[in-house]
Amino acid sequence: MTLGGKAEQGARAHNLCALSVRIFPFALAPGSPINTGVPEPLTLPINASTRYCAVYGHPVRHSASPALQNAGLAELGLNWRYLAFDVPPETLRAALLGAQAMGFIGLNLTVPHKVLALDWVDALDDSARRWGAVNTVRFEARDPAGNWRPLREFEQAPRELRSHGFNTDAEAITQAIGEDLGFELPGKRVLLLGAGGAGRTAALKLASDGVAELFLVNRTQSKAEAVAEEIHRLFPQVKVALGYPPGRVDLLLNATSLGLRPGDPLPLAPDAFTLEPALAVFDMIYRPAETPLLSLAKKAGCRTANGLGMLLHQGARALELWTGRHAPSRSMRQALQTHIYGAP
Ligand code: ATR
Repeated sequence: MTLGGKAEQGARAHNLCALSVRIFPFALAPGSPINTGVPEPLTLPINASTRYCAVYGHPVRHSASPALQNAGLAELGLNWRYLAFDVPPETLRAALLGAQAMGFIGLNLTVPHKVLALDWVDALDDSARRWGAVNTVRFEARDPAGNWRPLREFEQAPRELRSHGFNTDAEAITQAIGEDLGFELPGKRVLLLGAGGAGRTAALKLASDGVAELFLVNRTQSKAEAVAEEIHRLFPQVKVALGYPPGRVDLLLNATSLGLRPGDPLPLAPDAFTLEPALAVFDMIYRPAETPLLSLAKKAGCRTANGLGMLLHQGARALELWTGRHAPSRSMRQALQTHIYGAP
């Protein structure tokens, strides 16, 4: 998810920044009304006990996370609010420390902060290390026994605090494919279009989830080669090939940005690959709801899903990390749909 992620070096050369912005960033005109998707009657009034979470991005105005998370918080009956702040990268560290000092429960980070935050959080969860990006921060405090506990468990402002970085983006990719397409990855043949930040993460996640064969297609061949080499090194049991498959595959996954803008060409060469009814097609783009690829796939009788589920699941997992409770994903999905498409 995310798109628009920018590279750093080494293990961080690619990241999930793209995952949270697979939308056309100018889709919302300045001043256009935004439906928050929060069921207002369930929202507790803000008072001196209200706790806060937030998303930091730059820009952040397009973010659907406040609609998503406030719907979840309202459904859980928590006197919490989720805010959005436009934080330029040079002030990320100060903004992280500020939220920590003010007793924020947690944060989401989006473009361009996910990789930068690897250096600024106090502790990294395995997920953040493995995928080379932080999209969720949980603030924690030391309990009297010396253990770090989520801040929600403390009523008084504790002295010793830390920020703990997680990644919920990668897991959300395969969760969405499973839930929205009813698709099990182990043993399957997959054609993946795109080898940018989102494509690289999707390729590694699919490989770690046990796909049998992966075909990588990207406009810039060298990037696909780099991803293939990485998979070969980390998951030698997965067969990786560059280019279109000779026969049929089980899943086609679009991780390019083609389809975001009106008039974009298809992300696949129509004469190089045929869409068949047995094929499942997942497009990481969620705005527009139906890309030209998805409408073509539907016409060909394929099962299809867009990237909304990815956005939902990365957020639901973040909410669970902060609250320690099961995320109300049905209400959260509805809120997202209302926010993004104007109807549940
Ligand atoms: P993200 O972090 O969202 O993945 P990215 O790293 O810029 O963003 O990757 C965008 C993906 O869309 C890449 O696979 C890119 O192909 P290149 O690696 O060749 O740049 C692909 N893409 C973007 N515009 C494209 C276009 N006009 N034609 C084909 N592929 C395109």
